[in-house]
Amino acid sequence: MNTPFVYQDVEEILSRYEKEETPLLCVLEDIQEKWGYLPRDVLGYVARRLGIPSSTVYGVATFYAFLEVRPVGKYVIRVCKSTPCHVRGATNVLEALKRELGIREGETTKDGRFTLEVTSCLGVCGVAPAMMVNDVTYGNLTEERIREILALYRE
Ligand code: FES
Repeated sequence: MNTPFVYQDVEEILSRYEKEETPLLCVLEDIQEKWGYLPRDVLGYVARRLGIPSSTVYGVATFYAFLEVRPVGKYVIRVCKSTPCHVRGATNVLEALKRELGIREGETTKDGRFTLEVTSCLGVCGVAPAMMVNDVTYGNLTEERIREILALYRE
């Protein structure tokens, strides 16, 4: 990752927000959009360029569930395990996803298509149990519905 080309790209992203007082989160989102995750050496570079301690940048990068500090699949599935989803079957949802994908939580399928994670409340408790695939939310999940949803992303 440590190439001049990467840093040219990071510089281009930084330039988009040079007038912002607190550009860090926007910069991290754009970096993730470009590379699919936030490489550690790029985080260090951003910290130096913004004059922010690396620990602060890393802290922000690991605080938000939508930011990834390790390589992930093309589609990141986040299953809500907070109480309302838990009591309405989140464990079954997670087990069904593990079976369908052949991976455990925190893992990525061999083809690099799916990463499976658990998360806390997605803010759609009324349709529990719920999950997200990248930035799309799905609720009222059943095993059948999960198979249908995965089929959309397998095409
Ligand atoms: S508890 Fe799962 S969406 Fe709120």
